[in-house]
Amino acid sequence: LPSPLEGRREERLGAGRGVRGSSCSHLSWDELRATVQSCTRCDLAKTRTQTVFGTGNQQAVWMVIGEAPGAEEDKQGLPFVGKAGQLLNNMLAAIGMPRETVYIANVLKCRPPNNRDPKPDEAANCRGYLERQIELVNPALILVVGRIAAQNMLQTDAPLARLRGREHLAPVSRTPVVVTYHPAYLLRQPADKRKAWQDLLFAREVAARYVR
Ligand code: URA
Repeated sequence: LPSPLEGRREERLGAGRGVRGSSCSHLSWDELRATVQSCTRCDLAKTRTQTVFGTGNQQAVWMVIGEAPGAEEDKQGLPFVGKAGQLLNNMLAAIGMPRETVYIANVLKCRPPNNRDPKPDEAANCRGYLERQIELVNPALILVVGRIAAQNMLQTDAPLARLRGREHLAPVSRTPVVVTYHPAYLLRQPADKRKAWQDLLFAREVAARYVR
């Protein structure tokens, strides 16, 4: 007989099948990447150097989701490769999930000019891409970094303080989601690294409940 925990995992997998509301739900990794690369759904296509699709282990147990590419990401075509990315790498290594073991993506695939916040229509246009990435990776846990990414992922206006420390479910895939501070924020407010560490411990606990 399956254990209650396996049952939860099965339930989650079942609930994740058959993405609705996403025009990308049939795409392979290569097709999805090509679709993102040629995307012109919003004006960010005019100002980007290149798209930033996502990177890492396509069978990852943990997926990390940020807000949008910054200057360095726009230049290199990879997520979290600037200063905030270095701190993210250190955070992931510290919790025993080094960068190369996870899959990293952003809510937006293109850099907003001057790193302004994503506009709602930009996030909406990009949502199907992220949903398909989540479906393809099928992680046990999604770690969302920062208020903007969390509010977009969870479709809420709640402040970060209310979103941390709880297990959420991603819309569509029903993947467990844990929210923490953005590493760029932690670079400005290092005193909050202690709370971020608590979030990472909590994320590990949540992931352990669903691990394959
Ligand atoms: N900040 C993000 O949210 N994503 C990146 O890829 C880089 C910085």
